[in-house]
Amino acid sequence: MSLGLDDVIAAETVLSHVDGEAGRLIIRGHDLETLAGRASYEQVAALLWTGFAPDSGEGTAAALGRARVAAFGLVAPVLQGAGDLTPVEVLRLLLAALPDASPVPGHHLVTGAMPVFAAAAIRRSQGQGPVAPDAALGQAADFLRMVRGRPATPAEVSALDTYLVTVVDHGLNASTFAARVVAATAAGMVSSVVAGLCALKGPLHGGAPGPVLDMLDAIGSADRAADWLAAALDRGERLMGFGHRVYRVRDPRADVLKAVAAGLRGGANRIRLAEAVEQAALDVLATRKRSRPLQTNVEFYTALVLEALGLPRAAFTPVFAVGRVAGWAAHVLEQEQTGRLIRPQSRYVGPMPRQAA
Ligand code: ACO
Repeated sequence: MSLGLDDVIAAETVLSHVDGEAGRLIIRGHDLETLAGRASYEQVAALLWTGFAPDSGEGTAAALGRARVAAFGLVAPVLQGAGDLTPVEVLRLLLAALPDASPVPGHHLVTGAMPVFAAAAIRRSQGQGPVAPDAALGQAADFLRMVRGRPATPAEVSALDTYLVTVVDHGLNASTFAARVVAATAAGMVSSVVAGLCALKGPLHGGAPGPVLDMLDAIGSADRAADWLAAALDRGERLMGFGHRVYRVRDPRADVLKAVAAGLRGGANRIRLAEAVEQAALDVLATRKRSRPLQTNVEFYTALVLEALGLPRAAFTPVFAVGRVAGWAAHVLEQEQTGRLIRPQSRYVGPMPRQAA
């Protein structure tokens, strides 16, 4: 029995494969490195959905543009009741408000809605009203425009597009598994994607990049890194941006994102400190955690990319969801078409009723 289901195969998929020993991520027959920076997010979403979603004959980008416009109508009324929620909590609220029955196909609806809702949630946390989508733009360009209220530069759009592709899908990670469990009950696309977001939110999954920046800030300069990291481990803390359930070598997404961060002005400023902290962390983890190879994961350089794009820390998990949603949607479609109700068992270790004497 494995309480974390480490070696359990719970689904068959054609969508993505994580080879944790080789440090390789395959997205529907393509190594990640051959897609990131070369294929657009829309192209990779279409690649994932091919064969599962009905092909309406129109471009995926156009369909997602229309879905963004459709989703925007929900924003203002739902935000009225949002109280003091954080951006990821607002995103959860908005997603849950999507209807199950919609003229927009479910995978387009959730994927188009995510950047609209995430941008509105981020702006709200800064005391600003939502900006309407522009259906003619791609997801990355429109998201940055909706967050800022003005267009981003081509270099920024390209950086975000590469990030979105890099995180689009990753085997049966916790959020994708959650989405597939809900899809397996026939609850539908929206409910499944809400479940995915709820799982992504945790710091052991998609909530790590904000704390990565907190760590870099607290360390401050390269010469303090080793002592600071050792003290954190002494306190029993985990070093954010390191370790992975599947990878035993470096996460291939880390280098893709490191290159993206280095190409952005804000990222280049941070990269020397980040590299020093990364090396010090790998050294101390290798010494202290000999039984478990712990390497840099995707979240470490994600933090630098998103910071360089001017996004606030509280926005990082919502932006991850903007990328991952096409993967969740593909898994939901696949589960609905090929899967079975997911219903494992637990081993009862509680008390038994007393036998009558
Ligand atoms: N820092 C310090 N120690 C660590 C770390 C870390 N980042 N990760 C694992 N360990 C240690 C554990 O303390 C444990 O040590 P022990 O045997 O001495 O008790 C050992 O490695 C094994 O830990 P597990 O909990 O079994 O590892 P698991 O596979 O469950 O953890 C996880 C994977 C959650 C990602 C973990 O590495 C972690 O917490 N990392 C920090 C948070 C993070 O970066 N999350 C983003 C992950 S990437 C993603 O989801 C997109």
